[in-house]
Formats: sequence, C-alpha cells, structure tokens
Amino acid sequence: MKQLISLTGACALGAGLAQAEPSLERGTYLVEGPAACGNCHTPQGPQGPMMDQAFSGMLVEQNEMFTAVAPNITPAGHVGDWSDAEFARAIREGIRPDGSVIGPPMPIVLYRGLSDDDVMSIVMYMRTVAPVESDLPESTYNIPLPPAWGPPVASVAHPEEGVTAEYGGYLAGPVAHCLECHTTFGEQGPMYETHLGAGGYEFHGPWGVSVAANITSGEDGIAAYSDEDLAKMITTGTRPDGSRMMPPMPYGHYANMTEEDVQAIILYLRSLPALPDPQ
Ligand code: HEC
Ligand code: HEC
Repeated sequence: MKQLISLTGACALGAGLAQAEPSLERGTYLVEGPAACGNCHTPQGPQGPMMDQAFSGMLVEQNEMFTAVAPNITPAGHVGDWSDAEFARAIREGIRPDGSVIGPPMPIVLYRGLSDDDVMSIVMYMRTVAPVESDLPESTYNIPLPPAWGPPVASVAHPEEGVTAEYGGYLAGPVAHCLECHTTFGEQGPMYETHLGAGGYEFHGPWGVSVAANITSGEDGIAAYSDEDLAKMITTGTRPDGSRMMPPMPYGHYANMTEEDVQAIILYLRSLPALPDPQ
C-alpha cells in the first residue's frame, strides 16, 4: 500500500513537470494544430497549402488599410538570426529585435496571453522546420501602427489543462485565435469588450466572400448545434446538412486537435454571453 501511494505521487509529479516545461512535442502540436501559424505563413496554391514551402510566407490580406505579407518564418528567414527570446517576443508582443512593430492581421493582442511555456514550445518547433528561401515584398500599412500592443509581457503562467470552459477560453483566445476572426470589427480592430464572438467580419479571397459566423451561445450563435455538430464543423469544415464551410478558417489544422481540446473549446463557446448578429 505504501509503495502504491508513493508511486502515484511520483506520477503526479511527473505529469506536473511535463506541463511546466516547454517541449518540442507541445510546440509541434500547437503549430500544426490549434495555433495554425501556417494558415497565414504557408503559401497557398490552387490545391491548398504548399507543404514543400511550409512557413516560407505569403500575401495574407489586401484592403484599404493594409497589404499584409506574412514573412518567411523558417530558419532561412529573419528569425534564423534571432535568439529564442527575440523570436518569442516577436510572437507574443509583436516587437522585432530592431524595435519595429508587427502589424495586423497577426493576432498579437491575443498572443499576449500565450503562456511562457507555450510560446517557447512554439519557438522550439519553428527551429526544426525545413529552411525554405523565399522572396516576398514587405507589408505596407496605410494606418498608423501603435508603438507597441501593450506594456511588456513579463510572464504568463500556464493554465491548468483539462476539459473546462476556462482552458477552452485559453485555446479559443491566445492559442487558436478563434475570437480574432469571430469578433465584430470596429475601427480599432475586434471589439472584444462589446461584441465578443458575435461575428460579422467579411473575408474576401479566391473563394469569394465568407462572413465569420456568430459563435456566441444564443440563437443567432451556436444554440441549435449539438456538441457533435460543432466538433465536426470545427475540425472538418462540414455543416450538419453536409455543406462545406469556406476559408479562411483553418479546419485542416483544427483536425489535429485532441478531442479533449475541441470539447474544452465547445464548453467555452457555450459559456459566451448570447449576442445578436451585428447589424
Ligand atoms: C492571421 C494571420 C497570421 C497568423 C495566424 C500568424 N501570423 Fe505571424 N505574421 C503575420 C503577418 C501579416 C506578419 C507581418 C506583419 C508586418 O509586416 O508587420 C507576421 C509576422 C510574423 C513574424 C515576424 C517575422 C519577421 O521576419 O519580421 C513572426 C516571427 C511570426 N509572424 C510568427 C508567427 C507564429 C509563430 C505564428 C503562430 C503562433 C503566427 N505568426 C501566426 C500573419 C499571421
Ligand atoms: C481565420 C479566421 C477564422 C478563424 C481563426 C476561426 N474561424 Fe470559425 N469561421 C470563420 C468563417 C469565415 C466562418 C464562416 C464560414 C462559412 O460561412 O462558410 C466560420 C464559421 C465557424 C462556425 C460555423 C458557425 C455557423 O453557425 O455556421 C463555427 C462553429 C466556428 N467558425 C467556430 C470556430 C472556432 C471554435 C474557432 C477556433 C478553434 C474558429 N472558428 C476559428 C473564420 C474563422
């Protein structure tokens, strides 16, 4: 009996340690799964993402406010010359080593909430991807970028993982930036305080126009869908009636999420205060 108790103790400690340290395994899971960095940084061909050029950059969005080009983030890009801390700061604070600020639509405001362990795990994984040369123009912004996206982020503790609305909120916000796309846009960007998850942003692309859906808990949102429906929509891009959902939601990346993480996100969506579709 005594032995059993000490064994369980050792296991619990082991599990705690595994979570409390950045790892390549976690970084691989995040980047290829919920964080979906490749949705913006991997060039798209007619057949979808060009995996032989993964993370080598592409033109992400062009509108009146900006022409946003996601740079090469393979070891052949600028990041190859940056330290791990510099790379992590670029992701989480949107500030490059030369002090310049990374512009939208990279979801820096949400990435500020990434835990120390997760941002370092992401850096660890990005160091292992194949270096690919690319030749891309720089982004141009017709709107002023802020001097910073907020005060320096000193440290963010890793949240307790589990099938809970709290952890789902961490995944839907800082990690998978669901809320970046699904919150109504105002002049200052997504209106998180008043329109969290209410949708309405229009994405223009080769697919035509797609409109980010209302994903709050109410009738205009996801109330009519079962958990199974939602899991299928998020991870396969197929609605209950069999119709296909449009880009740019990164269904292919979300397909790599664990069932537990998908369930946690669904719990979180069900906890979002119901809001009407924006006018
Ligand atoms: C919604 C699109 C989008 C997503 C998702 C995204 N990025 Fe970006 N990223 C961009 C754009 C656009 C820029 C360039 C902005 C500019 O020119 O100021 C950028 C810039 C960067 C830079 C600066 C590189 C340089 O050489 O200046 C790094 C590093 C970076 N992203 C890493 C990541 C990582 C890691 C992830 C996933 C955790 C990620 N990005 C997710 C769009 C995105
Ligand atoms: C890059 C932008 C983007 C991201 C990131 C994104 N979505 Fe979406 N999402 C969309 C768009 C656009 C649609 C509408 C697609 C269509 O109508 O064909 C959509 C549709 C949906 C729908 C269907 C709702 C309905 O009533 O039809 C759900 C549910 C959903 N998203 C949940 C999520 C969750 C959960 C995440 C994060 C894990 C997420 N989305 C991340 C853009 C995004």
